[in-house]
Amino acid sequence: MKLLEDRIKKEGQALSETVLKVDSFINHQVDSVFMDALGADFAEHFKDAGITKVFTIESSGIAPALMTAEHLHVPLVILKKQTSKILNGNVYQTRITSFTKGTSYELTLFADYIMPEDRILLIDDFLANGEAAMGASRIIEASGATLAGIGILIEKSFQKGRKRLEEAGYTVYSQARIGKLGAGVIEFLPEEEPQAAKRNRQTEPKSGEPPAQTVGKTGSRRAVGAN
Ligand code: G4P
Repeated sequence: MKLLEDRIKKEGQALSETVLKVDSFINHQVDSVFMDALGADFAEHFKDAGITKVFTIESSGIAPALMTAEHLHVPLVILKKQTSKILNGNVYQTRITSFTKGTSYELTLFADYIMPEDRILLIDDFLANGEAAMGASRIIEASGATLAGIGILIEKSFQKGRKRLEEAGYTVYSQARIGKLGAGVIEFLPEEEPQAAKRNRQTEPKSGEPPAQTVGKTGSRRAVGAN
């Protein structure tokens, strides 16, 4: 997506060979008008996928995910990184490890906010190793719902996340794909194939995808195992 690539070229800073700083419009200060444009693009891309809910993981994915949900006229559900006392009752949980940040957390969803008939569009700001998206997919599959698409603002294509998600059978659309990062270097991969071609594929069934595994059930907490 040229709009996002141009903004990254203008304001993005490669902090290392793996980390891109985009604090001025995505992660810290948020350009709301720009987020609306990104949300409109995701909504257009996935408009024929029968999306019933947009999901994201707190916190940086919330802004573009909310805009996407608004354009699709569906609710936004925010997967939590911590269990709170308010979030008791029936929850799905799965453990996520972020290699970029060196942290782990329990991704948590209150079970009332997902139904087996839901078709979910997952939106997130970065795709690196795919840990967060795979964790969200485990929760979605465990509930019986369908992960109908994954929309990413910035895919770091030199990391394994995209390949992992596609091998699991998911449709991924990334608005900007970065092939290389380094001191003063931000290289993009060509834009993705035309949207119409991709939409046609979204209707095809997934193949070879292992079912999500429920490894434990303690009271009303459902622990969903890692793949
Ligand atoms: P993965 O889910 O694809 O495996 O990615 P990984 O764990 O490695 O990193 C995920 C977290 O790190 C996300 O933040 C994501 O926004 C952030 N991140 C990954 N790569 C970059 C990068 O190049 N630049 C920046 N600025 N952030 C990056 P999070 O833990 O979800 O926290 P939050 O920022 O959303 O609150």
